[in-house]
Parts: sequence; structure tokens; C-alpha cells
Amino acid sequence: MKPSSHALHLPRVIVLASGKGGVGKSTLVRSLAAHWLSVGQTPAIVDADPQASIVSLHDAEGLMAKVTVVADPEVETIKSTIGDLAARHSIVLVDTAGFRNQTTIMACISADTVVIPLKPAAEDAREALAMLDLINELNATPERTRAPIDARLVMTMVTPGTLIARQVRKELEKGGYPILETDVMQRVAFPELSMRGLAPSIVDPDGSAARNIAAVATELGKSGSTNRVVQAA
Ligand SMILES: Nc1ncnc2c1ncn2[C@@H]1O[C@H](COP(=O)(O)OP(=O)(O)OP(=O)(O)O)[C@@H](O)[C@H]1O
Ligand SMILES: [Mg+2]
Repeated sequence: MKPSSHALHLPRVIVLASGKGGVGKSTLVRSLAAHWLSVGQTPAIVDADPQASIVSLHDAEGLMAKVTVVADPEVETIKSTIGDLAARHSIVLVDTAGFRNQTTIMACISADTVVIPLKPAAEDAREALAMLDLINELNATPERTRAPIDARLVMTMVTPGTLIARQVRKELEKGGYPILETDVMQRVAFPELSMRGLAPSIVDPDGSAARNIAAVATELGKSGSTNRVVQAA
């Protein structure tokens, strides 16, 4: 029997979104898909970024061939694309553009969980909180009041032991914002494997980058414990 996302308490639809480009969305989408594939899930990716970085690097005959990848940057169709894939896959990951657009908002409306990556920098934190505000606004609409979107922040490209990473985390935790305990560390494995459309969990499953992503995935699997409506300052 195929493992279902619900047996593991996984959110079925996870949207990666940020108002800022280059924060590690596409890398995390690909890496999480590789992780869930490696543990027997049936992940699908919707590439909703008009730049189509996931689609363009995906090798349909390579090590991640079993991950279904669909391009859909259109606001009119994104919701049904996500819904169709969610009916056939245990988990659907949605990569969005590096700026806020209507397609991203529509994808967020369809999400169980929205993951908002940020690099450890003040500007990134501001942008991440603006995205969190948007999710809170969506959660106040009739469509989502009864089943609010679970929003999580995650710090990416973190160099261990740096003061700025500690400071940004401290500020976000002090504000009660839903930041994952696990940071995605700065590791050359991510860009090196990305160039071939690959990710650590498939290529080097016992390596530290793969274990890092497994820890992120485990936190995302914990049932909505951080799903609180919070206001950005
Ligand atoms: N954990 C990491 N360690 C090292 N490099 C990383 C990491 N995550 C991402 N990168 C690199 O940082 C750059 C930006 O990452 P990525 O393309 O995933 O961001 P993005 O948010 O999808 O960007 P865009 O908004 O342009 O779509 C890429 O060159 C990627 O390889
Ligand atoms: Mg991207």
C-alpha cells in the first residue's frame, strides 16, 4: 500500500512563497520533493514561476523522473492544476515567482501550508512578515476562516554560528512568528545539484544536506502546532 500524506500528517499542498527573489524557494521545493520521494511518497511539483526554473532543469529521465513536474504560472488555472495533482499525489509542492503576483496569491488560497523562506537579513525578515500578513488576510476570508492556511517561516542559506542568523531568529521568535526550528544551511551541494535538477536526498541521502532537509520535512509534518494568526509589527 502506498503511504498517504495523511498517515504521516503531511500537509497535502505546500506552497513556497516570498515577496523577495533569490531566497531559496526553488531549491527548497526541489529538495523537499526529493526527500519525500526518497521516503516513498509520490510528490508532484507545480512550477508557478513564469521563469520556470524547476521545469527547465527537470530531467524527465533522470533520478527525479518519478516526481511529476507541471508548469502553470496562470492565475486562471493554478487552482485546478493544484487540485488535480493533489487528487493523484500524496503531496504537492508549489514553487512561485520571486515577487508577489496574483498566481502566488491564488496558489496560497489553495494551500494547506505556506512556507516563507528568508535569508538571515533584516530586509528578508521584513519581506517575510509582509507575506505572513498576506496569509493572515487570506485566513480572514470566508474561504479560509474554517480551515486557515498554516504559515511557516524558514531561514535559508544560514552560515552556522553567525550573529545575524541568531539575531533574526531571536527577533522573529520574540514576535511570536511561526519560524521553523530547523534552518536550511548554506551548503554548496544545493547549487551544485540544482544545476542538474537534482537534490541531496536522492544523490547523497546520508549526507548532511539531506539530513538537514529531512529535519525541515519532519517539522512540516508536525500537525499545525504553529498555526497561529499573528500580526506583523
Ligand atoms: N541552502 C543553500 N545553500 C547554498 N546555496 C543555496 C541554498 N539555497 C539556495 N541556494 C542558491 O541560491 C540561489 C537562489 O536560490 P533559489 O533559486 O532556490 O531561490 P528562489 O527563491 O527560488 O529565487 P527566485 O525568486 O529567483 O525564483 C541559487 O543560486 C541557489 O542555488
Ligand atoms: Mg525560484
